[in-house]
Amino acid sequence: MTDIAKLKDDLDGQSPRAILKAAFEQFDNIAISFSGAEDVALIELAHKLTDNLQVFSLDTGRLHPETYEFFEKVRNHYGINIQFLFPDAGEVEDLVSRKGMFSFFEDGHSECCGIRKVNPLRRKLQTVDAWITGQRKDQSPGTRNEVPVVQIDEAFSTADRQLVKFNPLANWTSKDVWDYIRMSELPYNELHAKGFVSIGCQPCTRPVLPGQHEREGRWWWEEATQKECGLHAGNLIAHD
Ligand code: ADX
Ligand code: SF4
Repeated sequence: MTDIAKLKDDLDGQSPRAILKAAFEQFDNIAISFSGAEDVALIELAHKLTDNLQVFSLDTGRLHPETYEFFEKVRNHYGINIQFLFPDAGEVEDLVSRKGMFSFFEDGHSECCGIRKVNPLRRKLQTVDAWITGQRKDQSPGTRNEVPVVQIDEAFSTADRQLVKFNPLANWTSKDVWDYIRMSELPYNELHAKGFVSIGCQPCTRPVLPGQHEREGRWWWEEATQKECGLHAGNLIAHD
C-alpha cells in the first residue's frame, strides 16, 4: 500500500504537473472529479500525462446551462468521455415532493447536497482507488486553508478500502490557475465572463462583487464555516 505520509512529504511544494504525474504513477484506477469550472486546468495537465484518463462529473440536475455547454466543449476539445453521475431518482422525487424545489434556502443545503452530490459521489468513489480534485487552499478561508496535495480521504474510505485523494492545485492561487488558462488558451465556462468566480449549482451560486471573496458567491445565506457540501467533508472534520 502507498505510504501517503511519505508521498505527501515528497510532493509538498511540487508543481501541479509533478503531483499529477506521481498520482498516475501510483494508481491505475484513478479519476478526476470535474466541476465544469476552472478545474479544467487539471484536465489540460492530466491528458498529457496518461492515456487512461478518467473524468467524472456530478450532474445535480441544478447546474447552469452554461455549465452543461462547457462540459460539451471540454468533451470535444480533448476528445474525452466525461462520466456523468446522477442522483437517485427516488431520493430526489421524495425531497422535492415533500419540501419543494428550494428547501435549501429554508433549512440549509446539506440535505439537497447529500442527495444530489454526496450519494452519487460515494457510488463513484467505491469504484476507484484514488481521486483527483481541483480544491485549492485559497478557495475558502473558512474551510480549505489546510488542503494538502495528497491525503487519505477519511470521509469516503471504508473499513476495508482506503481511498486516496489528490489535490494537485492546492497551492495554486486563483491567479495562478487563470494565468495558466489564459496562457494555454484553454476553453472556459462562459459564467466566468459574467462575474461568477466559484461555480456550483445555479440556485446556490451567484456572481461576486469587486473585492468579495469567491466563496461569498456560494450558499451566501449560510455561515462561511459551513460552506462545504460534503464532497470535501474532511475539510470540516479538520476544522471542528
Ligand atoms: S464544492 O464542494 O464547493 O462544490 P468546489 O466547487 O469548490 O466544490 O470545487 C472543488 C472541487 O470539487 C472541484 O475542482 C472538483 O474536483 C470537485 N467538484 C465540485 N463540484 C463537482 C461536481 N459537480 N462534479 C464533480 N466534481 C466536483
Ligand atoms: Fe442542492 Fe444547492 Fe447543493 Fe446543488 S448546491 S445540490 S442545488 S443545495
